[in-house]
Amino acid sequence: MAQQVRGVIAPGKDQPVRVETIVVPDPRPGEAVVRVQACGVCHTDLHYKQGGISDDFPFLLGHEAAGVVESVGEGVTDVAPGDFVILNWRAVCGHCRACLRGRPWYCFDTHNAEQKMTLLDGTELSPALGIGAFAEKTLVAAGQCTKVDPSVSPQVAGLLGCGVMAGIGAAINTGNVGRGDTVAVIGCGGVGDAAIAGSRLAGAARIIAVDIDDRKLEKARAMGATHTVNSRGTDPVEAIRELTGGFGADVVIEAVGRPETYKQAFYARDLAGTVVLVGVPTPEMKLELPLLDVFGRGGALKSSWYGDCLPSRDFPMLIDLHLQGRLDLGAFVTETIALDEVEKAFERMHEGDVLRSVVVF
Ligand SMILES: NC(=O)c1ccc[n+]([C@@H]2O[C@H](COP(=O)([O-])OP(=O)(O)OC[C@H]3O[C@@H](n4cnc5c(N)ncnc54)[C@H](O)[C@@H]3O)[C@@H](O)[C@H]2O)c1
Ligand SMILES: [Zn+2]
Ligand SMILES: [Zn+2]
Repeated sequence: MAQQVRGVIAPGKDQPVRVETIVVPDPRPGEAVVRVQACGVCHTDLHYKQGGISDDFPFLLGHEAAGVVESVGEGVTDVAPGDFVILNWRAVCGHCRACLRGRPWYCFDTHNAEQKMTLLDGTELSPALGIGAFAEKTLVAAGQCTKVDPSVSPQVAGLLGCGVMAGIGAAINTGNVGRGDTVAVIGCGGVGDAAIAGSRLAGAARIIAVDIDDRKLEKARAMGATHTVNSRGTDPVEAIRELTGGFGADVVIEAVGRPETYKQAFYARDLAGTVVLVGVPTPEMKLELPLLDVFGRGGALKSSWYGDCLPSRDFPMLIDLHLQGRLDLGAFVTETIALDEVEKAFERMHEGDVLRSVVVF
């Protein structure tokens, strides 16, 4: 029997979001219905609402979520009703070329639920990132459910489902930050701060946080930054060089997604260092660099998609580290809100003091 629950939809380009009744079908083979306990508000949800991702309105928003599996379709064995899970948007297929080569984090055939959730009148909804978790219950592919230690609080766990994983993974998986490395992170929102926390976890000796907002820099220090640079008044490339004995950082993580900050990252690294772009640019942005500098400075210029994470490997490990007190995921939760406050949370995103608003059910 399909169920009716409350969920937040984006009805059309730039229209305010609203709470509607959502019809959630019973899971078929390969699918699961999850009772959502918490879901963070991510910038990507705002992009969906603004029409920046696709025109497939109406969207069912929300994708940084944790909850409990309520029911599974026939033949699903990896998760069972009652399991505490974090939802992921990388349910790998196991059969594509990337998966077969042992690099499943590049899987290009990831799974989502096949059935559609709908409005009461039958209008099909497009779930954000194939999840749609600003809803009391949601239908996903079973592979989108990653079991983790249930003693963690859902509002903290859910954040690993997107932005925090993207940042930690940008440092650890993509940037390969290791013991003794110097790291600079440009842009200290939720993603940049997670890159700072990940760098600390990996044993970086020096972590330089760069932002244009002092409140963000203060928070970055709490996350593990050893030095901060406000690039509104100071040239960040020079400042980073000065703080690294004149060399530049071994790894520079760009977590803004703009050409000028990418250039800063490019020049702020040591020779043969690594740049990781985790910030997402818009289609009209262009980058111009002397090709000789690209050659002459060597090293690696990488992009990080979802922190190059493999949810089944990374989520349980990071939750365990959190429970051991080695990774303060709670520090990313600025406020908890109700389902009907998502629109307000979007407005607050532009204020400097919010890392994550989290809807709790
Ligand atoms: N690659 C991925 O898989 C992935 C996943 C999630 C989010 N993202 C992207 O990561 C980026 C950051 O996300 P977020 O949630 O942290 O956003 P956010 O808005 O919370 O943080 C951005 C930060 O950058 C700072 N900033 C803005 N302009 C700057 C400049 N010129 N110099 C230095 N700092 C500047 C802001 O003050 C803010 O602190 C976004 O582009 C987002 O789309 C990527
Ligand atoms: Zn695959
Ligand atoms: Zn997200």
